[in-house]
Amino acid sequence: MAVREVVIFPDERLRDPVTDVTVFDDTLKQLAADMLDTMYADDGIGLAGPQVGVSKRIVVIDIPDDEGNQHKNPYVLINPRVTAHSEEQVESEEGCLSVPGCTAKILRYASCTVEYQDLEGKPQKFENVGGLLGICLQHETDHLSGKLFIDYLSRLKREMLKKKYLKYKKNHQKED
Ligand code: NI
Repeated sequence: MAVREVVIFPDERLRDPVTDVTVFDDTLKQLAADMLDTMYADDGIGLAGPQVGVSKRIVVIDIPDDEGNQHKNPYVLINPRVTAHSEEQVESEEGCLSVPGCTAKILRYASCTVEYQDLEGKPQKFENVGGLLGICLQHETDHLSGKLFIDYLSRLKREMLKKKYLKYKKNHQKED
């Protein structure tokens, strides 16, 4: 297991098209394990292939329990796709390991259905999932379409956030 380097905005690899996973072998299991390690190392709750420079349709998620503990219930989703969603939308604060130091209120569907395969290639489904998991599923599958949460913001809000982000990046680099 290994922590991989997270691809940081505005790296173009975050926008690259991804391909479906077709081979379910040990290399895939290794990638999934590395992605979970990387996500935990950065205190994230979800991570998508492009964020570790892998243009494949793969997502890992682990939503903390009420006490904030992780490592309890990690999900590995191969070839996930949102196949249905509610009419109702909800707004909540989002962040992203590829856009460090930034959060913003984003409108998402209140619940969604996601079809995917597990590490053995077996079809699986999350049906009408809401709450933090539902939002995380939408955020992570967006990464597989080259879309970031900041893309939902108005131009003005995005410019403000970008300034804040570049300042954060500069200060962060000084510390290194
Ligand atoms: Ni993200």
